[in-house]
Amino acid sequence: MTAFDAYIESHRQAFVDDLADLLRIPSVSADLRHAGDIRRAAEWMVSRFKQLGLTTELFETAGHPLVVAESPPVPGKPDALVYGHYDVQPADPLGEWTTPPFEPSIRHGNIYARGATDDKGQLLTHVKSVEAWLKSGEKLPLQVKFLIEGEEEVGSVHLESFVAEHRERLACDCVVISDCCQFAPGVPAITYGLRGIAYYELKLSGPRQDLHSGSFGGGVTNPAGALVSMLAALKDANGRIQVPGFYDDVVPLTDTERQQFRDLPFDEADFMRQLAVDGTWGEAGHSNLERRWVRPTCDINGLTSGYQGEGAKTVLPARASAKFSFRLVPNQDPAKISLALQTFLEARVPPGIRMELVDHHGAPGVVVPLDSPYIRAAAAAIETGFGRPPVYIREGGSIPIVNTFARELGADVLLLGWGQNDDNTHSPNEKFSLADYQRGIRASAHLWQELAKLPA
Ligand code: BES
Ligand code: MN
Ligand code: MN
Repeated sequence: MTAFDAYIESHRQAFVDDLADLLRIPSVSADLRHAGDIRRAAEWMVSRFKQLGLTTELFETAGHPLVVAESPPVPGKPDALVYGHYDVQPADPLGEWTTPPFEPSIRHGNIYARGATDDKGQLLTHVKSVEAWLKSGEKLPLQVKFLIEGEEEVGSVHLESFVAEHRERLACDCVVISDCCQFAPGVPAITYGLRGIAYYELKLSGPRQDLHSGSFGGGVTNPAGALVSMLAALKDANGRIQVPGFYDDVVPLTDTERQQFRDLPFDEADFMRQLAVDGTWGEAGHSNLERRWVRPTCDINGLTSGYQGEGAKTVLPARASAKFSFRLVPNQDPAKISLALQTFLEARVPPGIRMELVDHHGAPGVVVPLDSPYIRAAAAAIETGFGRPPVYIREGGSIPIVNTFARELGADVLLLGWGQNDDNTHSPNEKFSLADYQRGIRASAHLWQELAKLPA
């Protein structure tokens, strides 16, 4: 056993304690009341990097701070850049958590807290693997840099310009990201594609103020009614998005990839059981994995209008709004989608309603090449850490900055997810398996060793 492997074994509990410490900070990026917590989480990252003796800097942005750290250069070896995010999604609905979201709790081998898997736990695997190399008396065999942001969950809006401006500082041969999932328990994966996103808020207003629905109903457009018909117009009964031109840039799936998806051990009945649903639905002509990984879609993320309190109130609301987003596939351009959407919705505004469309954020999807020595190094490291070679998958979630890395740094991106599909990301009772945490740390430590076998 190598010295770093021994260190990882003997520090299992210390690694968990440190993760719990970070999870106690409610670094919710969407809610500015948490700005102080966001800063504390950034400073927490700074303190950990400094403890490892890395050159560390906190950068202010127009939004939440960024943390950059790096180990010493190792000439003749490739450089790796680890990207991750210390911000988390809001913990709502709070009442559905078994234990409070920012009081980490360990049950049945999992740690429960908001951010446990997305992305604090996964991100820390790389910090701990570097610690294991450095503190076990070994010399880290290549340069590892870290770029940790606090705005991933709100679209990474200030990161793109930062990466462009700090291209030299961030220069690397490969970017390592652990912010997605394994295919299933016991089936580790390398992800080679992610969907993009285009996120909007549609705000409709009607009469000056809320009205008696008996006195006025039938005589004036109800904004809530207008909202649901405009939203319903976005998709047809076959799950096809109706915005003109929406599919123009979608690249069709190849037969080979279709077959590769079919070969994965996916069971629709298990999927239904996991979600407690008695049926599934999506775009006609596509399998479940295809629908979630390689086909664009549209989902309503929030709906607000009218009376939400106890009992019944006969009101005709003056306003209605919805947050909704498209998941995009590689080659679709979020800016183009925004223009087409604006025209599509404007044409459907009924009389007596004013519409505002807020464009929150957008990012294109991505596919990364699998034919790369870095991918082969990652596969070997995963086999060591998880005891099984990875399968190759795409995923439906989005990591907005991935395209920018490929473009600005010219680096290969390694999407090495240590999470599970049932980790409850963005939902109540988010968790991360402590076994996956430990395996992820081991795989990461071996990744440094495998990458260092490659020429610079
Ligand atoms: N870690 C996820 C992305 C992810 C989830 C990738 C599942 C693959 C599988 C990330 O933190 C995330 O949630 N991203 C947001 C991006 C958005 C807010 C711009 C997403 O996908 O909703
Ligand atoms: Mn994430
Ligand atoms: Mn997330």
